[in-house]
Amino acid sequence: MTHATARAHPNIALVKYWGKRDAAVNLPATGSLSMTLDIFPTTTTVTVDPALDRDVLVLGGAAQDGVPRERVERFLDIVRAATGSGHHARVETENTVPSAAGLASSASGFAALAGAAASAYGWTLDLPGLSRLARRGSGSASRSVIPGFAVWHAGHDDASSFAEAVSAPDLAMVVAMVDRREKPVSSREAMRRSVLTSPFYPAWITSTAQSLESALSACADGDVDRLGRITETNALRMHAVIQACDPPLRYLTPTSVAIFDRVAQLRDEGIAAFATADAGPNVVVLCRPDDAAAVDAAISGLAETVTARPGPGLQVLEEAAR
Ligand code: PMV
Repeated sequence: MTHATARAHPNIALVKYWGKRDAAVNLPATGSLSMTLDIFPTTTTVTVDPALDRDVLVLGGAAQDGVPRERVERFLDIVRAATGSGHHARVETENTVPSAAGLASSASGFAALAGAAASAYGWTLDLPGLSRLARRGSGSASRSVIPGFAVWHAGHDDASSFAEAVSAPDLAMVVAMVDRREKPVSSREAMRRSVLTSPFYPAWITSTAQSLESALSACADGDVDRLGRITETNALRMHAVIQACDPPLRYLTPTSVAIFDRVAQLRDEGIAAFATADAGPNVVVLCRPDDAAAVDAAISGLAETVTARPGPGLQVLEEAAR
């Protein structure tokens, strides 16, 4: 038996990934930009065990069946196909991020799994290779491999679609946990529904490609205000696409909207703060590190908060010995 352990953190997109060009290999319709956080890591150990007749997934000490286990099995199939292994594995994962609450547990989860599985099966990959592999499990996981700020190039095929580091101004994110419960519709299903039914989807694609270009130039210029404005606009556009789906779908709750309003008010008061939200009710506020305490004080009456800073990329804590 060989085993390896890896750790990864969630990331929050400033320019969102919303919609696939190719669902089979998780190619996104557009590129995206994110910050990997220094909180809520996922730690995963993969043990390749010739005695197993199927892959085992243990999440927070509890054996999983159904869709989560099948997703892991499909992911490990990719690693087995690449390495020529016929062996199954035991995957043990500890999440510190509330699962499926729109705080990107799939991003930290599949990034950690990519690192641990590649090492356990003896597949030596460079950083772009690990990002590509993580992408196959969950698109946003491609960015959690990268420390700090990451741009995920949409690419045109498996080889060209991966994330890499970009330099950006020093920032913090105040995370407002509006609701920790599992969301009723997964981002996977909501993305599919958006592509198929939202009349705003084509406009989302063209506007997001432009937003990414502008966001990258704001990063290069160290322009927090421009980057923040693009971030909030892009998030609201994504939620507009989602809210135009059939059957109807809405992730933002009255509390989420109240936080967006409070953040707009903070800007009127002279604090550069900008809100974003993934496919869930939680809101994340982008600001300068020096303003994080004021942002926290302004929104902590509305939801539980925690402040994050740019975090590390994928860390393989224990390499498989062979
Ligand atoms: O990678 P997935 O399938 O969990 O999709 C993530 C989509 C968003 O979090 C809403 C946006 C993003 O870019 O992270």
